[in-house]
Amino acid sequence: MIGETTRRALRVDGARLMQRLDDLAAMGARDDGGCDRLAFTDADRDGRDLVTRWMRDLELDVTLDAMGNVVATRPGEAAGAPVMCGSHIDTVRTGGRYDGNLGVLAGLEVIETLGDAGLTTNRPLAVAFFSNEEGARAAPDMMGSLVYVGGLPLAEALDAVCIDGCRVGDELSRIGYQGTGAVPGQVPHAFVELHIEQGPILEAESIDLGAVTGVQGISWTEVTVNGQANHAGTTPMSYRHDAGYVAAETTAFIRRLVEEMGHAQVGTVGAIDLDPNLVNVVARKAVFTVDLRNTEEEALQEAEARLHEHLEAIAKAEGVDISTRVLARFQPVAFDPRIIELVEDTAGALDRSVRQLPAGAGHDAQMLARVCPTGMVFTPSAKGISHNPKEHTEPDDLTAGANTLLQVLLALTESDEIPVRQARP
Ligand code: GLV
Ligand code: MN
Ligand code: MN
Repeated sequence: MIGETTRRALRVDGARLMQRLDDLAAMGARDDGGCDRLAFTDADRDGRDLVTRWMRDLELDVTLDAMGNVVATRPGEAAGAPVMCGSHIDTVRTGGRYDGNLGVLAGLEVIETLGDAGLTTNRPLAVAFFSNEEGARAAPDMMGSLVYVGGLPLAEALDAVCIDGCRVGDELSRIGYQGTGAVPGQVPHAFVELHIEQGPILEAESIDLGAVTGVQGISWTEVTVNGQANHAGTTPMSYRHDAGYVAAETTAFIRRLVEEMGHAQVGTVGAIDLDPNLVNVVARKAVFTVDLRNTEEEALQEAEARLHEHLEAIAKAEGVDISTRVLARFQPVAFDPRIIELVEDTAGALDRSVRQLPAGAGHDAQMLARVCPTGMVFTPSAKGISHNPKEHTEPDDLTAGANTLLQVLLALTESDEIPVRQARP
């Protein structure tokens, strides 16, 4: 048990946190300063090796489950389910240094801070990193945490096929991270994820921290268009069955659709493959992805329905065959109001400005929210840029985020119940 006065005075070592972020960024480092640690690649393995070494150096009890999720636990005075924090260490191919990594390394920093001070929490404290949060190499995103909470059968996740044709299970065992721990995993007492905002709101409003209210719904669809390859010079326009045109026109349609639906709706065609992809050949085949997100489930369903209407109409008009496959579909998630308020009050007590806001990106916390009280802390992102090597957050903001995480975790480990905001006088 850690006394209130001792607890409130504790602070993380910001320089040590920055050093670990730099060291992890060296794994799968890109020439432009970003990171390329797609899930289950050699670079992902190098990142995992480094972080698990740090976990063992801190004498944590490290477990590896059959999906490659890693949980490191520091015992408390009492037994029972740990208060858990964490995130992911995989990145997109053009990733930055903070997305995911911050939440994991700040968790380690919290634990090291407690160790330096010779303090033992009441409940155990755990830090986790979950496999393949990004979903950029194999869908769905949040794959590891989804399996951890029992939302996706292990066998189905292991059988998923990567964009390079590899099977997830084969790649996981190839890099040596298919463990023996059972999934679904242990249900934590509560879960808190620190993450960069990855959007522009906090910076634009000069606010230090975000108390995240929930995560918007996510819909990923892969669209396959089969047309007819033909000569680019000799084929009259009315004779064409042009898969490339359908991909381009659908991309433009998505932009028109989201503009019409208003600001809560966003839509992206982020990947397009054309075949044969040659200057003078009408494309025979196009495979492209559509990412639709909205904080409202009904509106997201409307966007999906309108995409499908569009595809039916354009298939008929262009004389092509179109099929679709759902890559990921998650409803909007609301976090536990007690944890949202705890984050807000904690930031205030640390003299940091704070506001509530929803998350635009997917996060492991949205999966943990299915099984335990869950919340998130956001730090600002410079110019709102993320999934880009230029992703940046000031060290002072990262440290403030880690200190907020520390205090929130201690509020959860040291009280029997999840604390409820005191009525204000
Ligand atoms: C994953 O993190 C996503 O939001 O796409
Ligand atoms: Mn992330
Ligand atoms: Mn990401």
